[in-house]
Amino acid sequence: MAKPLRIALAGLGTVGAGVVKLLDANRTLIERRAGRPIEIVAVSARDRSRDRGVDLSRFAWVDDTTALFERDDVDAVVELIGGSDGPALTLARGTLNAGKALVTANKAMIAHHGLELARTAETAKAALKFEAAVAGGIPVIKGLREGAAANEIARVYGILNGTCNFILTAMEEQGRDFADVLAEAQALGYAEADPSFDIDGVDAAHKLSILASLAFGTRVDFAGLAIDGIRHVIAADITEAKALGFRVRLVGLAEATDKGLFQRVHPCLVPLSHPMAHVTGSLNAVVAEGNFVGRLVFEGRGAGEGPTASAVVADLIDIARGEYGPAFAMPVDSLAEAGKAEPGERVGRVYLRFAVADRPGVLAEITAAMRDAGVSIESLIQRGTTADGDVLLVMVTHDAPQAAIADALGRLEGSQSIIGRPMLMHILDF
Ligand SMILES: NC(=O)c1ccc[n+]([C@@H]2O[C@H](COP(=O)([O-])OP(=O)(O)OC[C@H]3O[C@@H](n4cnc5c(N)ncnc54)[C@H](OP(=O)(O)O)[C@@H]3O)[C@@H](O)[C@H]2O)c1
Repeated sequence: MAKPLRIALAGLGTVGAGVVKLLDANRTLIERRAGRPIEIVAVSARDRSRDRGVDLSRFAWVDDTTALFERDDVDAVVELIGGSDGPALTLARGTLNAGKALVTANKAMIAHHGLELARTAETAKAALKFEAAVAGGIPVIKGLREGAAANEIARVYGILNGTCNFILTAMEEQGRDFADVLAEAQALGYAEADPSFDIDGVDAAHKLSILASLAFGTRVDFAGLAIDGIRHVIAADITEAKALGFRVRLVGLAEATDKGLFQRVHPCLVPLSHPMAHVTGSLNAVVAEGNFVGRLVFEGRGAGEGPTASAVVADLIDIARGEYGPAFAMPVDSLAEAGKAEPGERVGRVYLRFAVADRPGVLAEITAAMRDAGVSIESLIQRGTTADGDVLLVMVTHDAPQAAIADALGRLEGSQSIIGRPMLMHILDF
């Protein structure tokens, strides 16, 4: 029988336990596909006594998680701890430096340290794989680095955070406000106790920075991303968007321009005719546009025990087969500097929502600011008053440079008539 691929699991939470279950359930099939067995030999987490719903007595328990790679009987380490630094990074560095394969689901670590780890992997001729780090069970990394590898990619974008999509969908279906749905999602365990990484767009940004590197052959540039989340979306935004023919989605978008890369995570209005408008609940979707293949749409479960374990084990099967290349689809030295496109030059339509005091002259003040900034208005809707007695004004602009929109909003800053921060959402027109 062919020599097994012997693995160590670091982290036995949602994904770690899922990997144990999957390797048990599909053992024979996986062995046939991989050409050899994939065997867990050692495991580690913080709390040895915790019941994880799987039989771990078959495996060696290692107290020092970061030393798992030191075992002679381990060929590959699967890092499922999480966190951009700390024990996950120590383990990843140690594993690759030792010339052993590393599989990880850790988007934060890859977004911040992916290039360093990829370089270490290259030097040590070891595999570094992270399919589960972006969009969980959806094989989007394989899709970009293998399936679409022959294409020049114009843009890659998607719904990259299931928690946000779950919240936005529930807000739409039940007409509820953000805070209310978030509280319920937390109670049900769909959202973390500290949800800020998800709802403020950071998690989606980690994933987008990895996708952008793969799509454009550029160095991962997390710092170059503009990030905004869904905290300020209110039920009325979703109702108004629907009346205008859109759904609100948190969209991560990376686009190649002649001035560099444009990368942004932002709540957007997605036309009902676009496939992403029909991605509901906690599902994820990624769209890539290649110059020969055209539009590719990947959709599926972006998180959870089963889907994420599916992606982790797919990476292990590649390693068992000896099929792996450079982590970011080309050697690190071949990756270009991302460069940063000036966001102000980007032209598009936007949705703006103002809460204004119910007094004469407000409309004229806002439209004058738009006119003076050179922004023309496509539609303007005024609907009733809120519980606080404020009036909601919703506006869709014609195509305008972002800088002009920012100029218009700047002119309105400090206005006595406008209450709170106006809500701005970009309209996805492709
Ligand atoms: N959950 C998903 O759906 C999903 C989807 C895609 C990617 N990911 C990524 O997968 C990774 C794991 O996520 P998860 O949801 O499985 O997390 P989780 O349920 O919180 O599990 C984390 C595991 O890591 C262990 N751990 C934490 N700190 C440790 C330390 N200092 N030393 C040793 N072990 C430590 C924990 O040990 P104890 O159990 O003993 O506390 C636990 O077993 C993260 O990078 C995450 O971003 C998750």
